Parts: sequence; structure tokens; C-alpha cells
Amino acid sequence: DLGADLAGRRVLVTAGGTREEIDPVRFLGNRSSGRQGYALAATAVARGAEVTLISVNVALPDPAGADVRRVGSAVELEEAVRAEYGKADAVVMAAAVADFRPARRASGKIKKRAGVGPDPIELVENPDILAGLTRDRAHPQQVIVGFAAETDHVLEHGRAKLARKGCDLLVVNQVGGGRAFGTEDNQAVVLGADGSATDIPYGPKDDLADRVWDLVADRLAAG
Ligand code: C5P
Repeated sequence: DLGADLAGRRVLVTAGGTREEIDPVRFLGNRSSGRQGYALAATAVARGAEVTLISVNVALPDPAGADVRRVGSAVELEEAVRAEYGKADAVVMAAAVADFRPARRASGKIKKRAGVGPDPIELVENPDILAGLTRDRAHPQQVIVGFAAETDHVLEHGRAKLARKGCDLLVVNQVGGGRAFGTEDNQAVVLGADGSATDIPYGPKDDLADRVWDLVADRLAAG
């Protein structure tokens, strides 16, 4: 029994994937279903935490007991995270955030013009929300967790990303070959800023979520 080892803890979870609008009907998006983030929110509720879930374009029922906010784009997500993270004991950034967004959103639907090729879509960089949070920690004990999907050199790229993002834990998924995105199961290695590496075997996203909360709870208890 995991009991209520997160009782009295406030956690903030982001889930899903951003959509960056091109015009009123089109966007740049990604394949994140939000299932892993929703599993993290549901398991945290089950372990007694007070959970705020920022949901980004997810078509799943709200997890019972979580306070759910909805946003669409990376800029909106940053604003919502910034508004909430100050009171959080732990922040888990499971959402897939677009690195770039169109520099301009066309006010009307972009039309195909006979004899003229398409205009290029100019992109600008989105803020790195996770790196920003670790730079401006609300308090030194706050546990900040990132997610990373890597296709190759998973450990090496994961270690470098953990350092770059400044987070306490980085959950690294191997993707490609139909794994992780949109599937029911997931597998990961969780890298710690303390040099630790914890393997989480392939299995239900709820199980992976519970293993992540185990690591977060350890760090919160160590304070
Ligand atoms: O750099 P990469 O996108 O692989 O990093 C993934 C992690 O960083 C995720 O936890 C994601 O939520 C977060 N992220 C972010 N802001 C971005 C890009 C990624 O917070 N602009």
C-alpha cells in the first residue's frame, strides 16, 4: 500500500501537447495524447496530493479529484504554469511543448493561389518553460521533473538534457517504432541530478507514474 505518502503536498502536472496556430483552422502540433500526464495526475490524487493539472489539447476525461486548467499553446502554457508553480511542492512537466511557433498567425484561412507556390511559414522560438522554472525555483526544496523523448543514445542525450534543463529528475522515454506516443504502455529510465538512474520496465502508464512519484516522494521527504 502506497498509503497517502503525498498527503498535504501540492503538485502541478502538465499533460498533452501544444498547438501553435498558423491560421484560424490550422496548427503545428505533436502526437502527445496526454495519457502519461493524466496517469501522473490520477496517481498523485490517489496518494493524497492536491493536484493541479494543466491540460493541453487532451481528449480524455478529467481525472477525478484534480483541479484541471486548459490551455492551447506554449505561450499560454507558460503563463498557466507561472501562475501555479509558486505553491507547488513538485512540478512534473509531462506536456510536449513545441520548440517553435509561427511568427505570425494569419487572421483568415490561408488560401491556395493558382500558379503561385506556398509562402514559407516563418518560425520563432518558444520559451523553454522547464528551464525557466528551474532557474526561478519557488523554494529550494521544490522538486522539478521533466520528460524527454529520445530516439537514440538515450542515456547520453538524457544526461545532457537533465543538465541543460536544470531539473531534479528527467524521465527519459525511448520513442520510435510505435512506442510511447498514444499507446497504453510506456517504459523509461529516470535520471536524477544526483547521478542516479532508475529503470522503469515496460508497463501501464499508471505504474510508470507511481514509480515517478516514488522518486519525487523520496526527495520531498529528504527535503
Ligand atoms: O527539450 P525537450 O523538448 O526534449 O524537453 C522536454 C521537456 O522540457 C519536457 O518536460 C517539456 O515539458 C519541457 N519543455 C518546456 N518548454 C519547451 C520545451 C520543452 O518546458 N519549450
